[in-house]
Amino acid sequence: MAVSQSAGGAYGLESVVRHTYERARHDISGELAAYIPELARVDPERFGIAAISVEGELVGVGDVEVPFTIQSISKALAYCLALEALGREKVLAHVGVEPSGDAFNAIVFDPTTNRPYNPMVNAGAITVSGLIAGAYGGEAFEMLMDRFSAAAGRRLDIDETVYRSEAETGHRNRGIAHLLKSAGALDADVDATVDLYFRQCSILVTASDLARMGATLANIGENPLTRATVFGVEAVRNTLSVMFTSGMYDFAGNWAFDVGVPAKSGVGGGILGVVNRQLGIGTYSPRLDAKGNSVRGIAAFRELTEELGLHIF
Ligand code: DON
Repeated sequence: MAVSQSAGGAYGLESVVRHTYERARHDISGELAAYIPELARVDPERFGIAAISVEGELVGVGDVEVPFTIQSISKALAYCLALEALGREKVLAHVGVEPSGDAFNAIVFDPTTNRPYNPMVNAGAITVSGLIAGAYGGEAFEMLMDRFSAAAGRRLDIDETVYRSEAETGHRNRGIAHLLKSAGALDADVDATVDLYFRQCSILVTASDLARMGATLANIGENPLTRATVFGVEAVRNTLSVMFTSGMYDFAGNWAFDVGVPAKSGVGGGILGVVNRQLGIGTYSPRLDAKGNSVRGIAAFRELTEELGLHIF
């Protein structure tokens, strides 16, 4: 079904989003992320679903304007930015595009290349942050923030408390960065790299922002609401490919099978989904399953893609 044609109608986008919200909201299973102390302080009841078509039609139900930290969803946008800024060959020389089947924080590199498997797991994302930090130095975070803001269509901000909390407790990520450096995957300074990574994870977004960012990717890099060109076509295509195969970590196969759209999750409770050339979808619910994906977010995506026939196959 072409989503844009029937919005608001009996089987249109709005009614499907409302119905999905009602069905998924009773599920209170899962746990808040607690390994970053500040993340355990959010309200577990929050739940919102937002969708934006590439024609700019917006539907939002529930807590779609509640801010939370973007966390690992930043990995997809940072990768897109690195591809564009540094070129595909340079990025591929440092981080692969092979699904790892491992947990997001696994300490494992591809044995044949000695590089991280893909940019969606921490090792790969930290390498990407290193590429951006190396290329832009002191301007790196501002540049990244500008681009994320352009994708969301509004000026975004950072949650300083979450940033500090993660910077103080992120020993595993620091360890990964040191191992990347010793393996030759990371050229940039370790401290500057993890600082950029922790900062990008602490950017505040809402489910509506995720939907707008998703719609920008769905619209091949042009924000459908502001008409700003945020990313180039090739970078978007490459990013969506990796989101499809690796965006949901060790759940990526199940996700591709059942949901069938490129997506990226974060331990803040967000999921960003992209229906190519049609729709951006953002969900927020902070209770996570054992793999670090939002429980109600997964349920909402399953239902939405089924009801609207959005699976790419
Ligand atoms: O690397 C970390 O620990 C976090 N800042 C981001 C992790 C994350 O969101 C994993 N996602 N589900």
